[in-house]
Amino acid sequence: MSDSFMNDWVYTDIVKDHFMNPRNIWKREEHFEPDGVGEVGSLACGDQMRIGIQVKDDKIVKLRWLTYGCASAIASTSMMSEMATGMSLGEAYRITPDMVTKALGGLPEHKFHCSVLGDKALRAAIDDYLAKQGRENTLKTSVARVMCECKNVTDQAIETLVASGKVRTLKELQDLTGYGTGCGKCKQKIADYFYEMMHVHGKEVAEE
Ligand code: FES
Repeated sequence: MSDSFMNDWVYTDIVKDHFMNPRNIWKREEHFEPDGVGEVGSLACGDQMRIGIQVKDDKIVKLRWLTYGCASAIASTSMMSEMATGMSLGEAYRITPDMVTKALGGLPEHKFHCSVLGDKALRAAIDDYLAKQGRENTLKTSVARVMCECKNVTDQAIETLVASGKVRTLKELQDLTGYGTGCGKCKQKIADYFYEMMHVHGKEVAEE
């Protein structure tokens, strides 16, 4: 690769390093046995992500991941895998794309979206672990963010409805939650989030 090609690349050195030498990849020959597994995205979009975790005393002791995503998704998940290993389940649940992006020294604006897959898959893996243990999952509600104040609709509620296939259009989301029917100021923000979640969970938006 020529020097000018590398210099023209818009990614930081940390991103390049994690993309070229991704950490904690899930390799078949390792025979990794996860205690919890999370999967998000869709192969159709080419950005599926799977994360497996081993847990001891409510700490993530080992994390392995696989993705068919782009360079940003690979670098983000590699960085996130290092951040999450050794964390308590609660700490790991609160990792945000912002934290990962900062640790990478930034990502190009249009690539920020790619970094959301990793932390979503990690939360899904923790959810799966707690469900398999038959434990109540209080983490889910503790990190929920209210997106529509008038109708008290949280991001978690929207994501759960999308992931379960219960809503396939914005209209269905509004019928179920009532979002946007008060002051209306949340409408655009929720529409953007809805489409992002449909993409992250590999769902097709239905005809209205
Ligand atoms: S904040 Fe959603 S309708 Fe007012």
